[in-house]
Amino acid sequence: MDIVKRLSQLENERSSMIPSHEQREDWDILVEKLVKDAISNKETGPAFRLLPDGEKIIDEDFTLRSSPRDMETTLQQISDKIVSFGVQMGNPNNMSYIPGSESYLTALGDYLGAVINPYTGVAITNPGATAMQQSLLKWAGGFLGYTGDFGGDITSGGSIANLTAIITARDAFQIQPEDIRQSTVYYSAHAHHSVTKALHLAGMQYCQQRSISCYEDFAINLEELEKTIAEDKKAGLKPWLLVGNAGTTDTGTVDDLNGMADIAEKYACWFHVDGAYGAAFALCDQGKKQLAGIERTDSVVLDPHKSLFLSFGCGLVLVKNGSALTRAHQFAGNYMRDKGVDESHSPASNSAELTRPFRALRMWLPLTVLGTEPYRAALEEKMLLARYAHEKLGEIENVWVGPLPQLSIVVFRYDSGDAAYDDKINQQLIDEILAEGRFYLSTTTLNNMVVLRLAILATRTNRNAIDSIIDMLKDKISQF
Ligand SMILES: Cc1ncc(COP(=O)(O)O)c(C=O)c1O
Repeated sequence: MDIVKRLSQLENERSSMIPSHEQREDWDILVEKLVKDAISNKETGPAFRLLPDGEKIIDEDFTLRSSPRDMETTLQQISDKIVSFGVQMGNPNNMSYIPGSESYLTALGDYLGAVINPYTGVAITNPGATAMQQSLLKWAGGFLGYTGDFGGDITSGGSIANLTAIITARDAFQIQPEDIRQSTVYYSAHAHHSVTKALHLAGMQYCQQRSISCYEDFAINLEELEKTIAEDKKAGLKPWLLVGNAGTTDTGTVDDLNGMADIAEKYACWFHVDGAYGAAFALCDQGKKQLAGIERTDSVVLDPHKSLFLSFGCGLVLVKNGSALTRAHQFAGNYMRDKGVDESHSPASNSAELTRPFRALRMWLPLTVLGTEPYRAALEEKMLLARYAHEKLGEIENVWVGPLPQLSIVVFRYDSGDAAYDDKINQQLIDEILAEGRFYLSTTTLNNMVVLRLAILATRTNRNAIDSIIDMLKDKISQF
């Protein structure tokens, strides 16, 4: 076939990929309807919707075909198979794991970002997008107390942010393959598993890893930490990295960051803090007090998709010595020769990614349109709610309540004094709660005992939600 004729045929066949203005408007109306339903589900429905007995959702439900399908049927499928089941992120009664909430303005930022679709990897292709990211990093560094020429990146989440920091710490210490087995890292027994995963991904899995036990309040035991470092040094090992927690996932505990910073300085270690859950609490005065010392870290992680209430897909890492971050991540190729001279602030120069979605916009839009004040208020509210829940749980007979929450997680357990029996009862308690679905909680183990958690972080969680969960727990526990 004549090439020109074939090209015109192909252009015609792909023409639907650029929708007309009218087509876009029709789609927008249908999407808006689904958005309304999804939001009202979060506001009024149960926190967790189980599939009806015998029903399954399988990958064949989503099999692609070569032919088109109308938007209405397609959105109905999303509604039936995704919106209607599973955990309703943003529901006020979801207090499981570290709960997320939808941010409508983040959704609009994603929408705009995908439509504008600027190339945000390097500064030259869109200087405004890079400047927006830089401004957000400066803002986060500002409320965490970072000064000087720090650098950072907006990542997809906390795991990648931890990985970015650990790679930077590895390169800042110029760890060569032959040094790995002597290099020693210290973290608390309550560190998030993304830290050990990051060590693995950074090629540091064969370094010496010391899991340090915790005090009764689940903060890292500083005496044991220092003793272990001193012994390791004596044995010829090279203490390299200290990882502190600014809010553990289990209990929301903040390690003594000043104490850890002193030890890191004394032994010349890199001090990283995983504040994926907790660091953003520094936006409010009460949180800032709990996080004292965070400004002394060499690197820190903070997840806007956790404690800044943004929809999933947003982590943040800061590195005090910005050029250490750039040195570990700046690479080039021949095809990049036109990209400009000083690219040290380009996201790609500070990240494993080159091309990336316009993440800065999904964060900047809500914080700009609403201002930062509502976020400060929400964080203070969640901290106070946790204290309120702690007090109310403590009033229930046969309930053990963990330490006074430092941030917004409360742990508790049915406790009759018979540990084995109590484990069964606590498991029964969570099984019943999940089967009913109105509330969604999760458990962990502390000192080998099953405990339930209230992780209070969903934007809509308020005093009513806490009162109703306490009533439900009281009722269930009274029947044991
Ligand atoms: C303390 C902590 N660090 C890191 C992570 C990992 O973050 P992400 O799930 O965004 O990768 C989590 C996730 O809950 C966390 O709680």
